[in-house]
Amino acid sequence: MPACLRFVLPFAAALIVAGVSELPPPAHAAAAAPRMTRRLPPADTGRTTMDGVYTLAQATSGRNVFAANCQSCHTPAQHTGPPFRHKWFGRTLGDLFAYIRREMPKNEPGSMSDDDYVRALAYLLRMNGMPTGSVPLAADIAVLHRIRLDSVPAVSSTPGSR
Ligand code: HEC
Repeated sequence: MPACLRFVLPFAAALIVAGVSELPPPAHAAAAAPRMTRRLPPADTGRTTMDGVYTLAQATSGRNVFAANCQSCHTPAQHTGPPFRHKWFGRTLGDLFAYIRREMPKNEPGSMSDDDYVRALAYLLRMNGMPTGSVPLAADIAVLHRIRLDSVPAVSSTPGSR
C-alpha cells in the first residue's frame, strides 16, 4: 500500500475504537449504577432515610395525596418490598422525587404541587418502614439529593463496610 495509507490506517482504526467506547453502556452497566451510589461514604449524601428525614404529619397527609392521585393505578404495597427496594434503595430521594414529579400521575405528570409530591414521597417512606423525625422533608431537589434511600442510618455506617 502507499506510504501515506500505512500512516493513516492505524489512526483510522484508533478512531473507530474510540468511537465504539462512546456507545451507550450495556444494560448491565446501567443496572450496576445504583450499587455504585450505595458504596459512597455517608458524608457524600449526608443522611439516609433511616435518619428520620420526614415527619409523621407529612406521611399522614401524604396518604390522602396518594389516595386522591395515585391509588387509581397503584396499591401502596406496590411501592414496598423487594422489587421496589431493588430499584430504589441506594439511590437518593432526589432521584425518586424527580421521577415521580416527572412521570406521575401517569395520566397527568407534573400536575401536583411540589409539596404534595413530597407528602406522597413521605408516605412511601413510611410504607417502607422508614422512621419519622421532627423536621419535615423539604421540597428542595438539592436537599433531597443528599438523602439516600437505605435501610441503614448514615451515622452508624462506616465507609467501605458494605
Ligand atoms: C394513571 C395511572 C397512574 C397514576 C394515577 C399514577 N401512576 Fe405511578 N405508575 C403508573 C405506571 C403505568 C407505572 C409504570 C411505569 C411507567 O409506565 O411509566 C408507574 C410507576 C410508578 C413508580 C415506579 C414503580 C417502581 O417500582 O419503581 C412510582 C414510584 C410511582 N408510579 C408512583 C406514583 C405516585 C406517587 C403517584 C401519585 C402521585 C402515581 N404513581 C400515580 C401509573 C400511574
